[in-house]
Amino acid sequence: MNESIKAVQLTHVDGARSDVSAFGADVTARAVAFHEGLPTYAPTPLADLRGLAAVLGLGRLAVKDESGRFGLSSFKGLGASYAVACYLAQYLGLPARAMTYENLTQPEQRDRLRKITLVTATDGNHGRGIAWTAKIFGLFAHVFMPKGGSPERLANIRGLGAEASFTTYNYDDTVRHAANLAKEKGWVLVQDTAFDGYTEIPLWIMQGYTTLAHEAMAQYNETPTHIFLQAGVGSLPGAIAGYFAAHGGKNRPVITIVEPNRADCIYRTAAASDGERHIVTGEINSIMAGLSCGEPNPIAWEILRDHADHFVSVPEWVAAKGMRILGNPMGDDPRVVSGESGAVTTGLVAELMQNRSLDYLRDRIGLNKESRILCISTEGDTDRTNYRRVVWDGLYPSY
Ligand SMILES: Cc1ncc(COP(=O)(O)O)c(C=O)c1O
Repeated sequence: MNESIKAVQLTHVDGARSDVSAFGADVTARAVAFHEGLPTYAPTPLADLRGLAAVLGLGRLAVKDESGRFGLSSFKGLGASYAVACYLAQYLGLPARAMTYENLTQPEQRDRLRKITLVTATDGNHGRGIAWTAKIFGLFAHVFMPKGGSPERLANIRGLGAEASFTTYNYDDTVRHAANLAKEKGWVLVQDTAFDGYTEIPLWIMQGYTTLAHEAMAQYNETPTHIFLQAGVGSLPGAIAGYFAAHGGKNRPVITIVEPNRADCIYRTAAASDGERHIVTGEINSIMAGLSCGEPNPIAWEILRDHADHFVSVPEWVAAKGMRILGNPMGDDPRVVSGESGAVTTGLVAELMQNRSLDYLRDRIGLNKESRILCISTEGDTDRTNYRRVVWDGLYPSY
């Protein structure tokens, strides 16, 4: 495959836009309050990379470092815990304001919840979030990973007490496998993507991600001019774009979505502009495992279509470059241990600022010395073997 940096822009004319009220202030407040009640909750740090911003010719570049979230090495526990709690509260007939960790773990509730079994498909991170959520609420969980996934990620899920195994399918077929089992066995599918007839839980997952945006804004202390968001099925960027559309209105930051060339279903969907979702089929072998999804989440796509601006598809080395940059800070900048899916946005920002053949794209996105950028390092070194192959051994050199 001929890998290169490709981009498409969607311009938004005034008029009807998809409804983002599901990401408004009241919903964010509910998600934040719920997460704050969890035993190991703490906001993750925002790494203000002043040295790097100066070298790249930017006003500010700050990276939200999700590697320490709930001890799970990625942001995914935010969505898993919030969605499962919403489901459990609904199951128990608790009103929204009573949906707290404390209430849901009372002995009499635990007894009633014991018969619930969760099931999900994952590249690793979401499944780890589900396994942890099942553990803290005393539930049982089955987690399925696509073939060729990382044994280290599987072991981390098993380490939390979930039943976890590889399938013989790619990610999207593994999702269908989990959905079929849920139907057959009466398990609760907690999937971080939506499909026909399955939207409630994925929307709760996306709402759970708004805690991340809320923390980032409190830490950034001004509105960024640009945000770069990596996409798998698009739930994370959809939630963050929804948050900014709901909270910032017309003055929201310029939003750029980033995907690997090998799984760029959202880029392809944006580029086709025929209103259809375009999928990537077959085996997807990107080092960006968390972004290796071939089918966009329809809820997320509607938000991204109406509230995101640029869609960029990048080669593998862009993620590798981001990992090396974040792991080797400039001057007094903090170090960010960032995995493949976490680092790709920073890698792209650096490339846009330094690669003259991308000047057209840098200018189109509007990056200059006044720009205040926010990236999210969505994971730490969730696959330490591959992290070292990239950062120590130079796997995927730039260009
Ligand atoms: C580390 C990491 N970053 C980003 C994403 C992308 O999230 P989404 O699939 O919601 O677009 C994932 C998804 O698994 C992930 O694991």
